[in-house]
Parts: sequence; structure tokens; C-alpha cells
Amino acid sequence: MNFNKAEFYTSYGLFSQIPKSEKAEIAFSGRSNVGKSSLINKILNRKSLARVSSMPGKTVTINFYSVDNIYFADLPGYGYAKVSKSEKQRWAGLVEGYLADDRNLTLVFQLVDFRHPPTADDVMMINFLIDNGIPFVVVLTKADKLSKKERAARRESLMNEIPCAEDIHMIEFSAMNGEGVEEIREIIEDIEQE
Ligand code: GTP
Ligand code: MG
Repeated sequence: MNFNKAEFYTSYGLFSQIPKSEKAEIAFSGRSNVGKSSLINKILNRKSLARVSSMPGKTVTINFYSVDNIYFADLPGYGYAKVSKSEKQRWAGLVEGYLADDRNLTLVFQLVDFRHPPTADDVMMINFLIDNGIPFVVVLTKADKLSKKERAARRESLMNEIPCAEDIHMIEFSAMNGEGVEEIREIIEDIEQE
């Protein structure tokens, strides 16, 4: 698979706007600011194909990227406190609609900040994926910000914090230094071959 053959395809702010899927899709989910757009850029060897911002809530639409013969869906982040109730409702309608839709969704990368315990929303999201039988992998982001000791401690705690943790494939990742990027690319290539 050619990860360099990627381009922005389209974005949708409402579930009703999204057409049926024509290609296999991979979605990137996680709380606001966890690093979804940064991860997409890293996988695709691009500096700013997906917009990255230190201000949480940057991505408010589902942004589709065409990558060779599949689509990447960059989902808007959840859990950003300074968002109005109506905006939260729009988010829920959009993301839940997307995930519950009868699409060719082959995998979700569920991102969790490696530095902190998963939030209640992270756990809710993981339970949603498990309950709906959606294949997913957990990506532990911003690994570069932890010392070896901190990583070991977080790794151990995650076993009790994430539901069914022992059955979940977890990847330690850094968009800063590229740790984990090859493992993620391999997973995507394996899907493509199925
Ligand atoms: P929303 O679009 O708001 O949902 O956020 P997002 O999940 O797309 O996060 P984004 O990729 O925009 O990154 C948020 C901030 O975290 C930016 O300032 C990034 O530079 C930083 N960041 C992302 N990944 C990493 C990482 O692996 N290491 C470090 N040190 N910083 C990171
Ligand atoms: Mg984003």
C-alpha cells in the first residue's frame, strides 16, 4: 500500500450528509487533543494534511482522506469541556451515526493519551466498540512525553483501567519521534490484504 498516495477527500459536519461508503474505511477516534490528526499525518508522511492544533476541538467535522484504495476518517474529538450543549449533541449525532452506520468500517484506531488514565469518555468509547463488535486497536499517544519508569507504571495501570484490556492490542506511539508508526502501517496493510 502506498501511504504517500494520500489526499484530502471531503468533510462532513452532519451524519445525514455522509454518503454510503464505497471503499473500506479506517477511523481514528479519541478525545480532543489526544493526537488523532498528528497520527494521520505521521502515517502518511505529511506535515499538515490533517490540521493539527494545540487548541483542543480543532477537528469538528469527520474528515475523510483518500489513501490509496481506502479512506481514513479523522473523527472529531470528544470530551472538550468548553463546548456548548448543542455542539455536543451535534458531535454525538455525527460520530454515533457514523460508527453505528452500516459501513465498510474495517478498523478503528482508538487513541488514548499514554500519560493519563483513560477518561470516562475513553472507556465509554471502548465499551461501545466492544459492544458493537467493531474491530479496534488502542493507540497510546504522546509516548515521547513519558520516562521509561512512567511508561511501565501507566502500562500496568491500564490493565485495570481499560475494559477487557488483556484482549486488546495496544500500540505505544509518538507522532514526535515516529515510535509505533511502522506497527500501525503494518496493521493497515494487513487489513487491505484481507
Ligand atoms: P482535535 O482535532 O481537537 O480532536 O485534536 P487531535 O486529536 O486531532 O490532536 P492534534 O493532532 O491536533 O494534536 C493536539 C496537540 O498535541 C498538538 O499540539 C500536537 O502537536 C500535540 N501532539 C500530538 N501528538 C503528539 C505526540 O506524539 N507527542 C507530542 N509531544 N505531542 C503531540
Ligand atoms: Mg484533529
